[in-house]
Amino acid sequence: MCGIVGYIGPRDCVPIILEGLRRLEYRGYDSAGIALVKGGRIQVHKKAGKVAALAESVRINGNGLSGGLGMGHTRWATHGEPTDVNAHPHFDAASEIAIVHIGIIENYRAIKTALVRDGHTFVSATDTEVLAHLIGETYKTAGDLTTAVRLALARVEGTYGLVVLSSREPDKLVAARKGSPLIIGVGEGENFVASDAAAIVEHTRHVVYLEDGEVAEVTRDKVRTMTIEDVEVEKLVHEVTLELSQIERGGYEHFMLKEIHEQPETICNAMRGRLLVEEGDVKLGGLQNVLGKLLSARRIVITACGTSWHAALVGKYMLEQIARVPTDVEYASEFRYRNPIINIDDVVLLVSQSGETADTLAALREAKSKGATVLGIVNVVGSTIARESDGGVYIHAGPEIGVASTKAFTSQLTVLALVTLLLARARGMPREKGRLLAQELASLPQKVEGILTRDEQIKRIAEEFGDHKNFLYLGRGANFPVALEGALKLKEISYIHAEGYPAAEMKHGPIALIDEQMPVVVIVPKDAIHEKVLSNIQEVKARRGRIIAVANDDDTEIDQLAEFVIRVPRTYGFFGPIINVIPLQLLAYYIAVARGTNVDQPRNLAKSVTVE
Ligand code: F6R
Repeated sequence: MCGIVGYIGPRDCVPIILEGLRRLEYRGYDSAGIALVKGGRIQVHKKAGKVAALAESVRINGNGLSGGLGMGHTRWATHGEPTDVNAHPHFDAASEIAIVHIGIIENYRAIKTALVRDGHTFVSATDTEVLAHLIGETYKTAGDLTTAVRLALARVEGTYGLVVLSSREPDKLVAARKGSPLIIGVGEGENFVASDAAAIVEHTRHVVYLEDGEVAEVTRDKVRTMTIEDVEVEKLVHEVTLELSQIERGGYEHFMLKEIHEQPETICNAMRGRLLVEEGDVKLGGLQNVLGKLLSARRIVITACGTSWHAALVGKYMLEQIARVPTDVEYASEFRYRNPIINIDDVVLLVSQSGETADTLAALREAKSKGATVLGIVNVVGSTIARESDGGVYIHAGPEIGVASTKAFTSQLTVLALVTLLLARARGMPREKGRLLAQELASLPQKVEGILTRDEQIKRIAEEFGDHKNFLYLGRGANFPVALEGALKLKEISYIHAEGYPAAEMKHGPIALIDEQMPVVVIVPKDAIHEKVLSNIQEVKARRGRIIAVANDDDTEIDQLAEFVIRVPRTYGFFGPIINVIPLQLLAYYIAVARGTNVDQPRNLAKSVTVE
């Protein structure tokens, strides 16, 4: 998704902004631009393609471009193709102000029509240029930029995180937020604006989180915050704990591979100080105040998107089968528009790595408005979902830069397992059983460590199948969502068509696809339905499908059926997804590498989906 970096201070903003944009590349984008005020004029450079192309253009054409006030943007196209012209920043009609924007202006057509009637012409196909003209028009009479931005935004429907600068007031940036994340970085005699702390953390760790409906006037020495209606707001300065090393590749070829290999540690971090092995119990500080609600909940509804939704599906198996709490799972994008039946004794769990996903955030607000208790299982500390929840649990996976989510998934599952054990014990699970489960959870990091040593074998399988056009992933029970997740990982970074199915469902249609060109990845742990899955594999084999199995170390039957077997250690059935997904992440990664795709910047994808 789009990214924003702004700077005001004594230093040259150009390298600060370009480096900040590079740090935001992981979010996904297709063009980039920079604007700064120099000699009473706004200078803009923008380019379709990568930040490196923008930096090169600034170097060649910038004529020593420098200045103490500027802003940059990476654009993920929504309105209009990714071209130089559609890239941000955009000007108003008088070229007196420039704007960078994340989000979607929903009523831009109506505003544009009115502006065109008044003689405005537009060069781009974007909604953002319309907003620039609207602010420019308001600026004529408003007196100052901050007022102009406020008044213009009062007429806007939709979402935005935006920064505006003016050649008439070269001592300030004006930032505003509704629905898209935006923070102000507070420095010494300099200040920053960014959509993500990663862009500015090497300069300052002190940040102010803007809330929806707030506007900030940012000068070198001051940040003044108000609502769109001009009511002054006192803001707290927070400290972000992000380390620079966490957002760098650290010797790995891609962030995704680094993050796959971090999983023994991140799973451990999700449990640290929370899992009480001896007591067979769990302590979760973020749920302390809502424990009564959780225990008396008639049902839990988990809502999320993408990989987080897959984690939610596994969560349903855990919560229902171990804690015996009725649990429904729904895509956040469907939940928000369905007018769902939510009772005040329902607990709604939002699962989100970024804590900023627009659909998940909207689902949270929908559930809250219906009186439910809303809890977040979130990675990014201080993110909007975390702040707006009644309680919750951070997964503590550290920054996830890889566009294809890996370590966040296993940490989400680990936290869902902790919540499950907490509820199960509180609802009467004997201590001895709790201890067995806690011991099993505690052993998972080491088991994952073992799987990661098998990546040479997985690399060979990837080379064998890298040129195939379709894949099928099969799993049953709690491993059905793992099949979905394996297929999603493959699609995202290698652009191979892949589908996940419950293994037994295959014979109801998808079996028609099976032939020798169809690799079928089957997750087949030695659990209560092992024999059933073996029968499903027989059905594939009988049609000459090629089988890659993820099976337990002690499974001897599988060798007769599968062409390739990736071994994983045994664990308690409902925790199996935490380790069974690891080979599928590696398989997708190595297939993508074999096909030469850019794993860190896969086409069309954004890391944090802040538009609906
Ligand atoms: C897939 C992936 C996405 C996200 C989804 C939700 O690899 O990363 O499917 O899982 O966009 O994002 P969060 O978890 O940030 O709400």
